[in-house]
Amino acid sequence: MTPEARNAAWGRLASLASGPAAGQIRELFAADAKRFGRFHRQGCDILMDFSKTSIDDDVLKALLELAEACQVTQKRDAMAAGEIVNNTEGRSVLHMALRAPRKAGFTAKHADGSVEDASAHVDETLAAMERFTHAIHTGDIRGATGETFTDVINIGIGGSDLGPFMAGRALWTVRSPMRPLFLANADAHNWEAIRPRLNPHRTLMLVASKTFTTAETMANAHVVRGWLERNLGEIGARRHMAALSTNLEATAAFGVPSDRVFGFRDWVGGRFSLWSAIGLSIALSCGWNAFRQLLDGARAMDEHFLSAPPDRNLPLLLALTTVWHVNGLGLKAHAVLPYDHRLSRFPAHLQQLEMESLGKRVTVSGEPVGRETGPVIFGEPGTNAQHSFMQLLHQGTTPVPADFVLVANPDHPYADNHRLLLANGLAQAEALLRGRSADEVAAEMRKSGKPEDEIARLLPHRVFPGDRPSTTLLMDRLDAFTLGQLIALYEHKVFCLGALWDIDAFDQWGVELGKQLAGSILPELAPLGSVGDHDASTTGLIARIRELQVL
Ligand code: F6P
Repeated sequence: MTPEARNAAWGRLASLASGPAAGQIRELFAADAKRFGRFHRQGCDILMDFSKTSIDDDVLKALLELAEACQVTQKRDAMAAGEIVNNTEGRSVLHMALRAPRKAGFTAKHADGSVEDASAHVDETLAAMERFTHAIHTGDIRGATGETFTDVINIGIGGSDLGPFMAGRALWTVRSPMRPLFLANADAHNWEAIRPRLNPHRTLMLVASKTFTTAETMANAHVVRGWLERNLGEIGARRHMAALSTNLEATAAFGVPSDRVFGFRDWVGGRFSLWSAIGLSIALSCGWNAFRQLLDGARAMDEHFLSAPPDRNLPLLLALTTVWHVNGLGLKAHAVLPYDHRLSRFPAHLQQLEMESLGKRVTVSGEPVGRETGPVIFGEPGTNAQHSFMQLLHQGTTPVPADFVLVANPDHPYADNHRLLLANGLAQAEALLRGRSADEVAAEMRKSGKPEDEIARLLPHRVFPGDRPSTTLLMDRLDAFTLGQLIALYEHKVFCLGALWDIDAFDQWGVELGKQLAGSILPELAPLGSVGDHDASTTGLIARIRELQVL
């Protein structure tokens, strides 16, 4: 497809978006009793209902034409074929290989022209992780003083924390052989809050870092190693360590025995890495079977993504819905509302997955993108969100599209609570759509006997505009298999958006500057450190902190 075809497709979308009916959802429902039937799709075990958006037949057609013009399918196939689709870092992108059987035969292409058998590497690593998990659970591997391990502390940040933390929490109803704890923040209050709960004789420490150079992770790893050494001696502490990394030299230098290092490769991006060795804490805390089910669920979604036609392809449709909202209707934020408390960290995971991937302003070839890219992602589990930020979604000046994630059956026996939860999720989406008109408000107030002057005074405050879009993802159950599908669905949505916006969704240069500046400010905070050249605000704050600090 030519750039002209792409521009024409964007143009068609823009003209639909500027039409008088754009954004009006209630009218679409009024005009079409079969709208739900026509605007929901099933992919694997997930039903996606996008009927509560203003996408109609014409918009959907234009969005699908855009996907074709942007060659999303061809780009998807290039990713699956191991082509270097992460251009700025010169890397293949093969998180799909992490959950595929060896016979799937994924290969990674390297910038020097060499080709690597990715599936073989995955197979070997998974086998080593499974052996290790089994040996820890059976007590074949024990701590330095002969005790079995009861706790696993994952020390990592970003993708080396958020994914395993989110998945481990989502699967807590699976019998847990070990208690998982997560240490991410450079703020040692994080460690101080965890430490009293841990017995060094029974604690396994995982240093999870793709690069093994991330400042926060290495600082925390030194702190925890020091704690183990004080309790178990230097040699003993080594028996309590494992590393999850691509940097084998650095793991050896840190003192992790080589048979305790679980590797992965540079074709796994941090925010896509929970399926790799980075997921070891999931396997240890939820059991190997659950981890395998998680991978299988993701694999099922991969197969759907790779084979379903565009009009039935859930990740693509989810991405196109976002394009309609962001580029068509100019909506710059997006809420994620899982109505299942086990998914309470899912929004946090998506914040990194989506914003680190899609927070880009130039195209793959370095030109300004020329249109909006990734929206601000935020969320909380329902119903908590309703008592927090939903007010703005209902009556604020900026419509915020929301994804509702609903699970039909819980893993607890409290049926009434669960119906209450689901009723609330459905009601929020319905309220966003329907709104409440001035006539409805007035009638209700009159019925409850309110005087006319009070009705007039309160009426504007009680009107809801409605026509606010949402998408619902419905699953029968939340288990390891469906969780894998759900996470992979969003991963592929992100890929599709990268392809549609022609940006590199797999790099993250934007996090570098802050890291560099932190490195130069660090010595300036020492009592006698000399302060370098900064803006007046930073200089002033450094001076004030130095006056205040007593450490
Ligand atoms: O914040 C940038 C980042 O590189 C993320 O992409 C990554 O997930 C995180 O830091 C942690 O990196 P590492 O696993 O190398 O410690």
